[in-house]
Amino acid sequence: MKKLIPVFLAAVAALAQAPKPEVLAPYFPTPLTIVEQMLDLAKLKPGEKIFDLGSGDGRIIFMAAQRFRADAIGVELDNDLVSSSQAKIRQLGLTQTARIIHGDILTQDYSSADVVAIYLLPDSLLKVRPILEKQLKKGTRVVAHDFGIAGWVPTKTVTIPDDGEGRSHTLMLYIR
Ligand SMILES: C[S@@+](CC[C@H](N)C(=O)[O-])C[C@H]1O[C@@H](n2cnc3c(N)ncnc32)[C@H](O)[C@@H]1O
Repeated sequence: MKKLIPVFLAAVAALAQAPKPEVLAPYFPTPLTIVEQMLDLAKLKPGEKIFDLGSGDGRIIFMAAQRFRADAIGVELDNDLVSSSQAKIRQLGLTQTARIIHGDILTQDYSSADVVAIYLLPDSLLKVRPILEKQLKKGTRVVAHDFGIAGWVPTKTVTIPDDGEGRSHTLMLYIR
């Protein structure tokens, strides 16, 4: 037991020194009608793998798994959002095709993605961009909500007019 104490203390010290993940955007959910249009724009197909980078309450993941029959993975930092979205996955019976990684967007592996959904702030997109450039396989579709990825040219841009919510939405599709 005594021998374990220094090991334990070293682990605690390492954890304390580990850089805290950066918050790349506050939680701001995409309206469900827009989620559907994002997945339509990306032409998400049954069995394809989609990642939502910063999955919030999990709405993109639920719709991708339930309505589009995709294999859907969310990455989320916030403890409460992770717990509630994981609980909803169980409640909806989607545990075979949907999951949430409790972690940092900037440290995941997206090489298996067919589609990436992203709703982050412009400066944050600049931090995510080199990771996607390095990891994504050819042909991966990236669909961005409201903020585009600087330096990438969208294959298609769709503006969805205000339907009473008080604002319009812009979606950008990139094909790598
Ligand atoms: C604008 S919200 C988008 C939520 C969801 N994708 C949607 O469209 O409804 C951004 C989300 O990213 C999460 N987030 C911010 N920084 C993150 C990071 N470094 N790693 C994982 N998630 C992060 C926030 O907690 C928040 O839930």
